[in-house]
Amino acid sequence: MIKKTIQLVTIIWMMGMLHAQAQVNKNYSKQRKWWKEAVVYQLYPRSFKDSDGDGVGDLKGITEKLDYLKSLGVDVVWLNPIYSSPNDDNGYDISDYRNIMKEFGTMKDFDQMLEGMHERGMRLVMDLVVNHSSDEHEWFRQARSSRDSKYRNYYHWWPEEKGTPPYRYSLFDVNHDAWKYDTLTRSYYLHYFSRKQPDLNWSNPDLRKEVYDIMKFWADKGVDGFRMDAFQFCVKDTSFPVFEGLNASNFVQFYAMVPPIHDYLQEMHKEVYAKYNLMSVAEGAGRNMQDAHDLVDTQRKELNMAYAFDAVDVSSSPDYSMLKLKKTFTKWDKEFQNDGWLSIFMGNHDQSRVIDRIGNPSEQYREASAKLISTFLLTMRGTPYIYNGDEIGMTNAGFKDISEFKDIQTINEYKYQQSQGGDLAAFMQKNIKYSRDNSRTPFQWNDEDNAGFSTSQPWIRVGNSYKEINLQNQENNPESCVNYFRQMVKFRKDNKVLVYGDYTVVDENNPNIYAYTRIEGNHKLLVVLNFSDVTSQVTIPKAMRVSTVEINNLLTKPTITNNTIALLPWQAVIYKLN
Ligand code: NOJ
Repeated sequence: MIKKTIQLVTIIWMMGMLHAQAQVNKNYSKQRKWWKEAVVYQLYPRSFKDSDGDGVGDLKGITEKLDYLKSLGVDVVWLNPIYSSPNDDNGYDISDYRNIMKEFGTMKDFDQMLEGMHERGMRLVMDLVVNHSSDEHEWFRQARSSRDSKYRNYYHWWPEEKGTPPYRYSLFDVNHDAWKYDTLTRSYYLHYFSRKQPDLNWSNPDLRKEVYDIMKFWADKGVDGFRMDAFQFCVKDTSFPVFEGLNASNFVQFYAMVPPIHDYLQEMHKEVYAKYNLMSVAEGAGRNMQDAHDLVDTQRKELNMAYAFDAVDVSSSPDYSMLKLKKTFTKWDKEFQNDGWLSIFMGNHDQSRVIDRIGNPSEQYREASAKLISTFLLTMRGTPYIYNGDEIGMTNAGFKDISEFKDIQTINEYKYQQSQGGDLAAFMQKNIKYSRDNSRTPFQWNDEDNAGFSTSQPWIRVGNSYKEINLQNQENNPESCVNYFRQMVKFRKDNKVLVYGDYTVVDENNPNIYAYTRIEGNHKLLVVLNFSDVTSQVTIPKAMRVSTVEINNLLTKPTITNNTIALLPWQAVIYKLN
């Protein structure tokens, strides 16, 4: 009897502890943080604004446009890499981490740009590319020169006397082979991306210290955070075991989150992030939910947030449906409702234009669907990232021929397909729709030559739509995409429930309408989005009482009959709930 009672008491006590723990955890996602409340604008410097007429965007060009960025209401600018680089992969191959790429300007230009951002109350997040460097980096030059070089161990080498190394897939290599033979020291080096992007060896503490010093260098200059490129791949099992079944579609399962990556992240946190008030975001969230939590859960002291790819993967698949998108976002939100934090994004420089994937870029619907996408991104839980040009509804470039593409991934994959006797027509069809170059064309400032981006021919040609879709056309039109975007950013700022409130999907299986509530205390909003070309309806729960329409992307008010809301094609509405 006594034993039983003790057991019972223990169980009750344990349940109490678990409950208490759950309560503590519950608070984490509600904890107020500036980086949760921020709206991030991703800026692709090569294509934003060219100030010196060489056809390449630059830092002075960005400085010229700071008032525009400020006018959008965004808080943080994430800049793709601007460091010295031979540009094999548009700056993601860095030859000097403490210098500025010549085409982009000088360190003075950088300082002025940063000062200009700070003066306007905006923060700057830099890309940190440390899974690999350029093969033109001094470390690699030295490492390659001799097996005895002090820098040899900054990279991964496989000496020829050990035979052929176990296969590793490379994302950008013309042969899909991540080992490149180097004659000078008769060894192979590892490159998960292009041959000019040798992977750094994170198990070497000297290398890690170099990276922390680089981060401190920029933090001391005043930058406000880092977006960590391909970081989930940075640690390798240096015994290089055979990866049975490794291929182009499953490499993440083999490459991501290799131990002891979390130890290194905690070390980085201690060395750098904890010392400065920096924002941190990882590209990629690992292989599963546990990996994602391990990156961003509050008590672990690793990173603030991560980018999960599931939703963009759904959107770039040939069997895309909004229902799948809805299920993906809902699944991720549920996982992170108590702890951890996510980035909300659908577009970036590695994806085609968002409107071509989840909206409708036709003349009839592009404005409405661009606005609907802005409504969606700015009403979800997580920190929203908006890719430059999406605020004005820029569409895919309209490339037709392989000669128009500049991206190493597209070009080398074309060559690979050619070498394998692949279906080039199918390849082109896919890349015309999904190549990353679609979103890398110059920002469309106006309908003049080169879309107002440059006075000379741009490094990549301007997208076909610039005469119709450009900022100048939209500035003076209160109903334009850009002005709607401004209104939405302000709405998010004014309604913190959109940052911290619970997300609950309504009528989950509705194939056309994506509807959800955001609720915190008495603050209650209902977001209703018609992701289709036809008038569609959603029935909301009986107990739900809608009051005012707070946001509407069309001039016509939706009709409500007995808790059934009917929306026109691509209509987006936000209601206040009683
Ligand atoms: C991810 C970046 O976003 C992409 O643009 C780049 O090509 C690879 N990482 C390699 O750095």
